[in-house]
Amino acid sequence: MQPLPPSSRETLLRLLGYFKPYWRIFAAGILAMVLLAASEAGIPALLKPLLDGTFVERDPFYLKWAPLALITLFLVRGLAQLASSAAFAAISTRLMHRLREEMFERLLSLPTAFFERTVSGNVISRFTYDVSQISHAGVQVFNALIKDSLTVIGLLAYVFWLDWQLSLFTFVLLPTAALIAKYVGRRQRRLSRELQDSFGDMTHVLEETTRGQKVIKIHGGQDYERRRFDRIAKAIRHQQFKLAVASTIGVPIVEFVGAVIMAAVIWIGTGRAAEDQLTVGGFVAFFTALGLLFSPVKRLIKLTDPLQRGLAAAESVFALLDELPEVDRGTRSLPEARGALRFERVRFRYPGADRDALGPLDLEIAPDSFTALVGASGSGKSTFVSLIPRLHEVSDGRILLDGIDIRELGLPALRRHIAFVDQQVILFNDSIANNIAYGTAADSERIRQAAKDAGALDFIEALPQGFDTPIGENGVKLSGGQRQRLAIARALITDARILILDEATSALDTESERLVQQGLERLREG
Ligand SMILES: Nc1ncnc2c1ncn2[C@@H]1O[C@H](COP(=O)(O)OP(=O)(O)OP(=O)(O)O)[C@@H](O)[C@H]1O
Ligand SMILES: [Mg+2]
Repeated sequence: MQPLPPSSRETLLRLLGYFKPYWRIFAAGILAMVLLAASEAGIPALLKPLLDGTFVERDPFYLKWAPLALITLFLVRGLAQLASSAAFAAISTRLMHRLREEMFERLLSLPTAFFERTVSGNVISRFTYDVSQISHAGVQVFNALIKDSLTVIGLLAYVFWLDWQLSLFTFVLLPTAALIAKYVGRRQRRLSRELQDSFGDMTHVLEETTRGQKVIKIHGGQDYERRRFDRIAKAIRHQQFKLAVASTIGVPIVEFVGAVIMAAVIWIGTGRAAEDQLTVGGFVAFFTALGLLFSPVKRLIKLTDPLQRGLAAAESVFALLDELPEVDRGTRSLPEARGALRFERVRFRYPGADRDALGPLDLEIAPDSFTALVGASGSGKSTFVSLIPRLHEVSDGRILLDGIDIRELGLPALRRHIAFVDQQVILFNDSIANNIAYGTAADSERIRQAAKDAGALDFIEALPQGFDTPIGENGVKLSGGQRQRLAIARALITDARILILDEATSALDTESERLVQQGLERLREG
């Protein structure tokens, strides 16, 4: 086993910190494991007197008690196994639960900039894959460290006690077999890693083919996609064949070496039996112990695998937990806003960009007025509006709401005065009513009024389930314009004084747009 690098050690310590509250269950689990290890070493230890006493010497004491002892041993073993599994499952599920909750809490507090630089799949896999990986690897590591090492110690002590010369001889031979097995295993591992990569490529192509099916159809991309897929599918076929052969070669080689060692041990052992050094029972017990040693030793040798897998997963979970939340140094609150906005020499540059996306800009917006921003695509309109609810912080200059620098307001205090319809409409996989009322406690009357003001009432009422209609993931069951009107209704239902519409009517026909504008006009006057 190689020593861990310092960063991994830090991760390990941090991870272990999570186990602290569960030390009682942990101790119970360890106790059960000790019992389990003892019972494992107990199997060959029981075999020797059992065989010698019953078959060889026909001792009435053994004839009566040996079967009972065997049953008891396996009963204890089963109970210990159950107890240790339950204890570790209790800890690992709690650990997973806590990590997921902490990550989600952090996710809710992260700045917009984080989501702009992170692929969502990457965030999701930390909740699903990485967290399970930590728990899975953790259980494996603890099992190896405690149960396997104790089992190995117990079994080794037993075989050396039984016949130290035969043991010594065997343990000189065994490493040869281990080396051969290691060589065979390495090729297999390399092949299966390659295979995994190829499956990753295939997933990628499949994802793009399903997601981009419209583009493929219209642009005639079938040939291109077919070639891409064929190349990967062929690679997978070759790799799977090689892997199948490699694993079939491996087994007979390892078995053959094992048989050679066994023959040598039998040869020496029978010689010692002739000298009355070793009984039949002792001999069987010796082989049983050797067989029982195999798996735990293997797991101990490979202990670094689950350890490293678990630590890598823990690192990516902790990386998310260590992301900095939105900067919120504002302390003032503003119970009632008039809605006067003032922009003073406002500039903004995206992180990592080499020039400003906006500004410097001066602008004044009076309460109860409409201001329209007009500009070419990419000129910075969306960027500009994102500065008002502080989705991004100005790089320079300041924005005042009713004469207060918005950075002095707490984020919730500022945002409750703002309603926002984004250029990319986001809807939740829920009913129409819940999408409109999102984040408020609005009753059905207000939901209806908001839908009316947003020009959405007609199409909602035409649906068979009306306001209770589930709209599917991001509203796939609605048209682009219907989605936009729901988003507008969601903005209108809040009593925010500032309403931001970023191309909110781009998917509406002129007639619907006029209706929405009338609705807004009524709201301003009312
Ligand atoms: N998250 C981002 N990171 C870096 N640059 C960005 C980011 N978002 C936008 N930009 C850049 O900032 C500039 C302004 O973009 P913005 O979205 O504000 O334009 P827009 O006026 O809203 O355009 P459109 O009319 O097409 O919606 C663009 O050049 C764009 O490339
Ligand atoms: Mg825009």
